[in-house]
Amino acid sequence: MGLKVMILAAGKGRRMISEIPKVLHPLGGIPLLTHVVKTAQLLSADSIHVVYGNGGSTVREVLDHLPVNWIDQHQQLGTGHAVLQAMPYCNDQDQVLVLYGDVPLIEVDTLRRLLKDTPPNGLGLVVAELDDPTGFGRIIRNDVANIIGIVEHKDANPQQRAIKEINTGIMTATAGQLKNWLPKLTNQNKQQEYYLTDIVALAVASGIPVGGVVVNRIEEIQGVNDRLQLASLERCYQRRLAKELMYAGVTIADPQRIDIRGEVKIGSDVVLDINVVLEGKIKIGKNCYIGPNVVIRNATLADHVTVEANSVIDGAIIQSHCQIGPFARIRPGTVIDKQVQIGNFVEVKKTSIGKGTKVCHLTYLGDATLGEQVNIGAGCITCNYDGVNKWQTIIEDHAFIGSNTAMVAPVTIGKGATVGAGSTITMQVPASHLTLSRSKQETIANWQRPQKRETHESATDAVDS
Ligand code: UD1
Ligand code: MG
Repeated sequence: MGLKVMILAAGKGRRMISEIPKVLHPLGGIPLLTHVVKTAQLLSADSIHVVYGNGGSTVREVLDHLPVNWIDQHQQLGTGHAVLQAMPYCNDQDQVLVLYGDVPLIEVDTLRRLLKDTPPNGLGLVVAELDDPTGFGRIIRNDVANIIGIVEHKDANPQQRAIKEINTGIMTATAGQLKNWLPKLTNQNKQQEYYLTDIVALAVASGIPVGGVVVNRIEEIQGVNDRLQLASLERCYQRRLAKELMYAGVTIADPQRIDIRGEVKIGSDVVLDINVVLEGKIKIGKNCYIGPNVVIRNATLADHVTVEANSVIDGAIIQSHCQIGPFARIRPGTVIDKQVQIGNFVEVKKTSIGKGTKVCHLTYLGDATLGEQVNIGAGCITCNYDGVNKWQTIIEDHAFIGSNTAMVAPVTIGKGATVGAGSTITMQVPASHLTLSRSKQETIANWQRPQKRETHESATDAVDS
């Protein structure tokens, strides 16, 4: 006897107006279905089964890594039919929990409560009170407030539609009971579907207790049917993540203006200013400051890192006490050692930068290795690409590169070398010396600027000449 989780995800999602199957639409950067699977995993179930159908092959391809059993529901004949497809995978003693692939924010506590409060062999439902219950199945109770049935919105009479208590769709029963009830369902209703909800009346008819667990937060049971609901759940999810971070010691300038699209780990006393976007897998150490409009994607930042406004950090590792930005762009494959300063309009790609190095203004470093305590002047460029291949630039410890230097790779600049401003470096630069490559400055004494010609020519003639 164990727990079997069934996630229903075969529905079309027509109202999304999308070529992407609904359950693949991301919430906080993570597909809707993945959210549900992750929550289910917290229950340490025996197995998790996903009933899929529409756009099924794409769903399986994209989410193949999930530890679930995929069950193909060829035709979507209703929620009852969907659960029936999963019955061959269950023993009679198993407890079955039904979740929806498009209801991503259900909380594990609610599910635990449902499983705990449902009597052995009983039927347990997660219910909610809604101000506007339109569209949901209504919970029908008898005089002594026991649940006796569920009526779908489309089948309900005006009196039933006035009921505000709704079925969230999440329910639990033993597989034995389901195997008994599901084959008895009919599709004689407005939607000509096999309604899972009809098992409630069947349970009541055979004297099986039916319990209802009330959900804590409405967002937990909200489904995604269109892009408005997706956006509204996105904000709920972001608020939830922001709250978790704040409780873990992170200051968030405005919890309404932060977006986390992936998995983040952030140390205490980090300040996230407004409009920070964190994507993918991110680790930020303690005491960091992330300025306004900063985007960080798949990156690791150690302690005491400052990222000033409008910087983009993607696929990089940044060690402690670095200062990045404002307006810096750090691209994938970049590794930055401690106490490095990267200033405004600096782009760094696939480059490693040694401790204490400064790259403060208007520079491009690509496919380069910089040693420690290097100083790169304003406007320096590694010419890493010859139009066909990419080449490496090596700048050794304590080198000083004057402003507006172009380093044509492959090239190495020796330890402690100084390169004069405005140089185009195409050959090895020896250590310790001054190297420059630029035309000598000359002065032409008494040179006269051209004078305006005094003629009667028209302006057009002047242009033609
Ligand atoms: C269902 C419930 C309703 C409840 C509501 C909550 C039924 C009959 N009704 O209605 O009481 O208030 O959810 O949102 O169960 N699915 C399949 N295969 C199918 C049909 C549906 O996998 O053949 C999946 C859908 O992808 C979806 C879920 O089951 O994730 C619910 O289906 P949907 O058609 O949205 O049911 P509702 O009409 O919303
Ligand atoms: Mg629905």
